[in-house]
Amino acid sequence: MKKKIFIMGIETSCDETAVSIIQDNGTKPPKILANIVSSQEEIHKKFGGVVPELAARSHLEKIEMITKKALKKSRVKLNDISAISATAGPGLVVCLSVGFSFAKSLSLALKKPLIAVNHLEGHALSPMFENNIKYPYLLLLISGGHTQYLIVKGLGKYKRIGTTIDDALGEAYDKTAKILGLKFPGGPKIENFALNGDPNRFDLPKPIFYKGGCNMSFAGLKTAIFRLQKEIKTKQDKCDLAASFQKTIIEIIKKKTTIAIKEFKKDNKSNHLIVAGGVSANKKIRKTICQLCKEKKMKAIFPNTELCTDNAAMIAIVGLKKYKKKKYSKLSFSVKPRWPLDPYAKFLKGAGVIL
Ligand code: KG4
Ligand code: ZN
Repeated sequence: MKKKIFIMGIETSCDETAVSIIQDNGTKPPKILANIVSSQEEIHKKFGGVVPELAARSHLEKIEMITKKALKKSRVKLNDISAISATAGPGLVVCLSVGFSFAKSLSLALKKPLIAVNHLEGHALSPMFENNIKYPYLLLLISGGHTQYLIVKGLGKYKRIGTTIDDALGEAYDKTAKILGLKFPGGPKIENFALNGDPNRFDLPKPIFYKGGCNMSFAGLKTAIFRLQKEIKTKQDKCDLAASFQKTIIEIIKKKTTIAIKEFKKDNKSNHLIVAGGVSANKKIRKTICQLCKEKKMKAIFPNTELCTDNAAMIAIVGLKKYKKKKYSKLSFSVKPRWPLDPYAKFLKGAGVIL
């Protein structure tokens, strides 16, 4: 009988302290035995964004307790864990250091391999608990810190074909919510307000809509919304603005995804489009992408809703894939606040970017 593999995943790159234990016994896909996520929403909501020092302190306070909870839930003994995987970047350095140092000490004490995981690769592989996905595939990664189109050729093999040149999509949702006086994180709140609003009331800009291939820009939207602030007095005004914002986002995503699919199809026969990251929980965005994929003969695949936002099961699945290939990390491995999936992609951010 094949030996069971148990992988622990640890995630502390931003404002979620999360520990997961997954099991692989040769059959596909691996099973999530425990996936504990402790959100710091309450700590940061009065600041309208994540405060790194407070986030790191909270990770420190909770990491041991969350690990014990995950072990109890999974009914796996610490000594039976095959490897410890943890997010080593990208993210807030003080936060990454808490989880990754904890993983190092567990690995040292248990004499089990340490596996450094790229948080973005975690998002990229998050739908693999439910779907048998083969490489290559097209990935749209939409989170609070990143917005990119990537061609995924294999584990650790990414080619970026499009990126935001300023704000990430989740950031645009969060900033818009903040202007509307809605608490952090804003994405789900904007989605709900938009349900009762008029999407045609406000005309918002769509920067680089007709240029820059499948690169995107969202910063102009935030500025336009800031200027409209004085017109927003009633709850209905907020709903209308949320609906208009979301309509604009949908138009941008539809247009840019069409370009990305065309680019992907030039060299690839596969028809899988994976959409992952916190914003992929958005129902309207899911619906738009599903419709577009139907037209383009592509198959849209999303993670389960609870695996869209940050969690440790997605870190553990990358850990598992790396474990099988013996891609272990040394104890001297340092966290990387910046860790692009495609290290060869051109830096395309800020004013003066030429597309
Ligand atoms: O992937 P994630 O949990 O963290 C990062 O790695 O950044 O993504 C968090 C982002 C936040 O900006 C949040 O507002 C957004 O995902 N988000 C949503 C929704 N749920 C979360 N945005 C739009 N609609 C949602 N339903
Ligand atoms: Zn994330």
